Amino acid sequence: MSSIVFALAKGRLAEHAMKLLDEAGIICDEIKSDMGRGSRKLIFSSEESKTSFFLAKAPDVPTYVDYGAADIGVAGKDSLLEERRNLYEVLDLGFGACRMIVAGREDMRERLRRGNNFRVATKYPNIALNWFARQKQQSVEIIRLAGSVELAPIIGLADFIVDIAETGRTLRENGLCALEEITPISARMVVNRASMKIKHARVVGIIKKLKGILRETQR
Ligand code: PRP
Repeated sequence: MSSIVFALAKGRLAEHAMKLLDEAGIICDEIKSDMGRGSRKLIFSSEESKTSFFLAKAPDVPTYVDYGAADIGVAGKDSLLEERRNLYEVLDLGFGACRMIVAGREDMRERLRRGNNFRVATKYPNIALNWFARQKQQSVEIIRLAGSVELAPIIGLADFIVDIAETGRTLRENGLCALEEITPISARMVVNRASMKIKHARVVGIIKKLKGILRETQR
């Protein structure tokens, strides 16, 4: 049996993913007990079940899978759209649901509709640039930030932000609102193109098992 390496986006997505993989019997006891100790280890392996998991920053997951450092990845659709790697996207896992939005102050709604040459702050420069160019035929200056992008329109760094909103609480509590929806987002499973061929039986077996569980939970 060929060994399979999973790259999981650190944090909430990884927790959901581990639960799902556990239900599918893909995680063995050895790995579970290792992870359960609350250690800061980043890689968990089992010789017996020929499976390894590592935890990476969400935007790095598509990179690891593209280079074949991982066979399978779990990351948000936001990271996949932003990184634009050549991967097989095989499953929508349903969890991690949120929306990619353009947000700003309510009184900027009309400007967004008619204006041009905006400054847009975001952690997602490719998504933002692409959306404004294709959907709005508007030229924008992208200001790349690493986080807390809601600050940018408040303190006058940018006119709008492109970001994910889950509950909408961060926007509300900072006097901002979603002005346009770019796309719905959720966690996806992706597969390296070579692994899909070389480790076909095992990869397809995993996808089938997970599909079955997802179907059951949607009922
Ligand atoms: C994300 C996102 C928003 C917030 C949205 O930030 O960038 O800021 O969550 O969630 P809400 O709609 O439920 O309020 P994250 O917590 O990842 O932190 P960051 O801004 O530092 O990246």
